[in-house]
Amino acid sequence: MSHAEPADGLDGRAIDFRSDTLTLPSSGMREAMAAAPLGDDVFGEDPTINELQRRAAELMGKEEALFVASGTMANLTSLLAQTRAGDELLVGRLAHIVRSEAGGVSRLGGVLATIIEQDLDGGMDASAVAAAVRTDDIHQPRTSLLALENTHNFCGGAALPPARMRELAEVAHAHGLRVHVDGARIFNAAAACGCSAAELVSEADSVCFCFSKGLGAPVGSVICGDAPFIAECRRVRKLLGGGWREAGMLAAAGLYALEHHVERLADDHANARRLARGLAELGYPIRPDEVQTNILLIPLEATEGEPNPSAALRDRLAEVGVRTSPIGRTQLRFVTHLDLDQADIDETLERITAAGIVPNGASR
Ligand SMILES: Cc1ncc(COP(=O)(O)O)c(C=O)c1O
Repeated sequence: MSHAEPADGLDGRAIDFRSDTLTLPSSGMREAMAAAPLGDDVFGEDPTINELQRRAAELMGKEEALFVASGTMANLTSLLAQTRAGDELLVGRLAHIVRSEAGGVSRLGGVLATIIEQDLDGGMDASAVAAAVRTDDIHQPRTSLLALENTHNFCGGAALPPARMRELAEVAHAHGLRVHVDGARIFNAAAACGCSAAELVSEADSVCFCFSKGLGAPVGSVICGDAPFIAECRRVRKLLGGGWREAGMLAAAGLYALEHHVERLADDHANARRLARGLAELGYPIRPDEVQTNILLIPLEATEGEPNPSAALRDRLAEVGVRTSPIGRTQLRFVTHLDLDQADIDETLERITAAGIVPNGASR
């Protein structure tokens, strides 16, 4: 059940679908954090971090791993470690790296990010990737890296299957590019595809994933790849001010999450589909069979009378204690997670039904 505070002006508590980052550590996780053996990680001496990195690398089928503070830091560190200033990164239009990471790779890395049109499955057309690669010419930037995202946040939690991941990595490699995977929710993708996370990233040169999203830890992400790449990431992490000391308490939360919260991601996916079915019955423009993981994006239409329908619907839902996040003006996002159970989904649908809330802020 959600730990959220009571909703304003409402008897019940708020049911919070804004993000899967909102989860609070359980008592079991807090105990594991308190009991963690610690050391200075800049010296490589934190045993809990070392164990987390070993386990993460093993799960991704990579040689080594590096624990960092956030998904944004994991992506930025991975991108900077594989590019030089003046290089070109190929990345999908809707990628988190493009939309939600403050342009870090360009600002801090001097890297040109060239946008590739995004397919709704969260990938992109392999021929578009091939066509975007520059020729070897002194006038041109060097195209050196392709970034993929799986699951894909702004494609509604779409899970790109292993064959598509391989196809895109192979075309990039054939053109001499390296491949990074923003796998913030890679275990959600694996659960949706019925494969291991390692299978999804077998061709990738680097992958990062987050402990602080569906896995329910308070902080932390990890980068995985071969030993020389991780050595370079360690240097870049230091440059970014991310060399931390006795951070093993945070790593303990990550280890706990890997042990207890991976299998249960399927519950979040079932809850998202249950919510989608209920919303579709109420007239929300969503196809429940298209919900693959824990993210639901409701498409909305801007009109002259309602130029910002996502904020309007968010506000209307908040009045009945259902919290959501607008993605731009024309999409509203619901994310299911560890702190929401099936009863919360049913309660949400009851509240929305009772208040007669339908898209564009109108009441039935
Ligand atoms: C796909 C994806 N990548 C990276 C991030 C960044 O993670 P953080 O918020 O920990 O920086 C997010 C955050 O939601 C995400 O959805």
